[in-house]
Amino acid sequence: MIKVTFVCLGNICRSPMSELVFKDLIKKQGYSNQFEVTSCATSRYELGSPIYHKATETLKKHGITGSHIARQIDTHDLKSDFILVMDSSNYTDVLRINEIQKEKVHKLCDFTKNPRDVADPWYTRDFETAYNDILDGCKSFLQYLKTNKLI
Ligand code: 4NP
Repeated sequence: MIKVTFVCLGNICRSPMSELVFKDLIKKQGYSNQFEVTSCATSRYELGSPIYHKATETLKKHGITGSHIARQIDTHDLKSDFILVMDSSNYTDVLRINEIQKEKVHKLCDFTKNPRDVADPWYTRDFETAYNDILDGCKSFLQYLKTNKLI
């Protein structure tokens, strides 16, 4: 079982989008039973909130549905095999956690051919670009696991 935790600042836009996009990819490719996938926030800003409506609408446009309630990263998440953050700011925040194992933490789009941050659509209002970055990141991460015979 490979445990994957997606992390962003609020856990209402990018990380739940990543969770649902990745779950959709592994379901379509028949890998669901090999994974435990979740998402969480570095901050406490949005604890208890559902996925932001614009993120849900963007996912729906691409045929992906699902729900999530925002929560903050906890000690169980730190035991994940992969802690995939969205941007450099999330990376810095996660590495400040005392018990963190640095080698588990990666920026999602560092698995792509064009390493980059997933810009925060909360501020950019560009949910389509965030979706495309997330899809590229999730596909590239899955390919990384296959190439390295981890699945
Ligand atoms: P996310 O976006 O980190 O992609 O979930 C944000 C959502 C909420 C806030 C910041 C970023 N906020 O400041 O409340």
